[in-house]
Formats: sequence, structure tokens, C-alpha cells
Amino acid sequence: MSVFRPDILEGRVALITGGATGIGKEIARTLGRHGARVAIASRKLANLEAATAELAAEGIDCMHAVCDVREPEQVEAAIAALLERHGRLDIVVNNAAGNFPALIEDISYNGFRTVVAIDLLGTYNVSKAAFHAWMREHGGNVVNISAPFQHHGVALQAHVAAAKTGVDSLTRSCAVEWGRHGIRVNAVAPGAIGETEGMRRFSGATGRDADGARNPLGRLGSAGDIASCTLFLVSDAAGYITGAVIPVDAGASVDMLKIRPE
Ligand code: COA
Repeated sequence: MSVFRPDILEGRVALITGGATGIGKEIARTLGRHGARVAIASRKLANLEAATAELAAEGIDCMHAVCDVREPEQVEAAIAALLERHGRLDIVVNNAAGNFPALIEDISYNGFRTVVAIDLLGTYNVSKAAFHAWMREHGGNVVNISAPFQHHGVALQAHVAAAKTGVDSLTRSCAVEWGRHGIRVNAVAPGAIGETEGMRRFSGATGRDADGARNPLGRLGSAGDIASCTLFLVSDAAGYITGAVIPVDAGASVDMLKIRPE
């Protein structure tokens, strides 16, 4: 049961990259349940078809496009197909990301480059294409999915931290440059979210399954927690917010000493 009115995104069209699985699919579902027509993009057609059928069965108007966010031509083609069908593009959620835990000395040159290419360059490619195809003339909302740990040194995630630092920076720069076009650009930084591919991989590598719950609120987050914050940011309730990176991490990123008073 949502705390938001079900029609707050009525008439709007949203593109969610990496929207076929995990957090991206939940964001698509949440925006769709609040009135948006959604388009999900990812590399794998089978995942896209399954997610589209699932969301359609819930009454959500969902289309999909096979698209690798690293490839500007594919991104432009996906946005062109969306505009052909819906005639507008109000919301972009840059959620597509690559991640695997690896030590700096073990990760290959191509492995590091791949994560930066998906997370950072992919966010740039999709944002820029949406700007030129629609938002420059009509305004809009961009939400980038970031991370909460890149402000510290982190083991096993150097490549991701470098990429997400870039995503945060791009969020602020786009907000500053595009405010005059009526475009708001913000980011959500998810903490430990249960039942996600990223969490499974990290827990598998560190063997620290319950670690994610050692935050001030004492629980793992859900994909719905990230989707709710995204919905708020793209709604008119957040009309004066741009350039913000909002941690949705139960306070983990501000908890330096990790001391829990009784
Ligand atoms: N450990 C170390 N290196 C890895 C790796 C792992 N688990 N997975 C991929 N790499 C390296 C590959 O070895 C390759 O480098 P190489 O050419 O030097 O061998 C490079 O990364 C690219 O891998 P490849 O599988 O060819 O690229 P891809 O574009 O098909 O996929 C990922 C790359 C990162 C997207 C893929 O690993 C993936 O699917 N990750 C899951 C997505 C995910 O976790 N999402 C949640 C984000 S929080």
C-alpha cells in the first residue's frame, strides 16, 4: 500500500535502464503504479520480456527496448522507439549497473573499464540522449542510482566506487547546467538492499551475510525503499530539489564508529 496518491505521475512517461530485474524492475513497477507509462531497457531480451509481461499483468503500461547503455547508438534508438510510441519522455532513471567484488590487484584492466563504462558512461549516454531527444525543450526528471560507500575507502569495490563518484559528480553538473531547461537531476544511493544481485555477490565474496543489517535501523532495505525515494524525487513534491544525492541506507553512510548504544 503506497503512501503516495496513485495518480501522481498520471500522463508521464518514464525510462528505467536495467529495469528488467531487481531494483530497476521495482522502480518501474512503482512509477507504473502511480500512473506513469514505463519503458524498461536492458541487454537481455528474455529478462525484458518476462518483466514486461509481469508488469502488464499488474495493469502497468510497459514497453521494453534491448539496449546496452555503453553504446550511444543503441541508447538513441531506444529513446527514439519510446518517443515513437508515447510522444514524450518525462523521467529517466539511470539504474543499469555492473558490479562484482574484486581486489584492485586482481581485477583486470577490462574489468575495471567495464564497470566505469556501464555505471558512469552509461549514465552520461542515457542522460545526454534524453536531453537532446526531449528534455531540452520540455523539461524532465533524471534520477541516477548511485551508492553510499564511495566517500570512504572500500575494499573489493574500488572500480564501483570510482564509477559512482563520477555518477555523483555528473548528477551535480547536470543539475547545474540543466536547471534552466526545467530539468531536475538527483541521485539515490542505496545501502544494503536484500534480494539483489549486487548483495548476493558481495555476501558471497565476503561471507558476511548479515552485515548489511548492522546499520542504525538494524535491517536490510528492500527494492521498494529505493523505488519510494525515486518516486518522491520525480514527483512534484520534490519540485525544489535538484543536484541532491540522497542516501537510502538506514544511516549506514554516516555511522563512522558503528557503536550501538544499548
Ligand atoms: N570478477 C572479476 N572480473 C570480472 C567478473 C568477476 N566476477 N565479472 C566480469 N569480470 C571482468 C571480466 O573478466 C572481463 O574482463 P577481461 O576481459 O579482462 O576478462 C570484464 O569484467 C568484462 O566482463 P564481461 O562479462 O565480458 O562483460 P559484460 O559486459 O558482459 O558484463 C558485468 C560485465 C559487470 C555487467 C557482469 O559481470 C555482470 O553481469 N554483473 C552483474 C550485474 C550486477 O551485479 N548488477 C548489480 C549492480 S549493484
